[in-house]
Amino acid sequence: MTLEIFKVLQSYETRNYHEMSPRKKPENNRPPGKILVRIRVNGETHEIATEINKTLLEVLREDMNLTGTKHGCELGECGTCAVLVNGKPVLSCLMLGIEAVNTEVTTVEGMTRNGKPHPLQNAFADLGAAQCGYCIPGILLTAKALLDENPHPSRDEIRQALSGNLCRCTGYTKILQAVELAAREG
Ligand code: FES
Ligand code: FES
Repeated sequence: MTLEIFKVLQSYETRNYHEMSPRKKPENNRPPGKILVRIRVNGETHEIATEINKTLLEVLREDMNLTGTKHGCELGECGTCAVLVNGKPVLSCLMLGIEAVNTEVTTVEGMTRNGKPHPLQNAFADLGAAQCGYCIPGILLTAKALLDENPHPSRDEIRQALSGNLCRCTGYTKILQAVELAAREG
């Protein structure tokens, strides 16, 4: 688990997760109203109407149709929903969408460079590192944050960076090799 993801988890614990929970029912049983927010995603500013209790994961998938970000446990345990916020991996199931205002969000749809796949995406395709593919968007983004900070990580550093991203197909060896290949060729 990356330090950043751990910090996000920790901050939610100390802020009383139950009270913050997007799933907490409003006391009057009325759905919360929508508000207009501006969020920068993948280099573009989007103005969207959304509910204040939606997670960033829900805002991306339901309000912005960016379904590359996957939901898994929605409890902060699997890493499937990871996106980058200001370049750092964040679990979008634990962050409210409105907390992303004034930040720069990157999803897997924003990984291409000038219309070309990111070196990580090429490496994963070349090595067949994706099996069902469900965990891969979160892994690609977490690996991107690692390579942006440390262009030539060791196997242990890659393993550590990806330790919060669970692959249900358990193909970890090829995932590690793909990150190493991208680091060599990136
Ligand atoms: S869906 Fe967010 S950590 Fe599992
Ligand atoms: S490739 Fe299937 S969950 Fe990771």
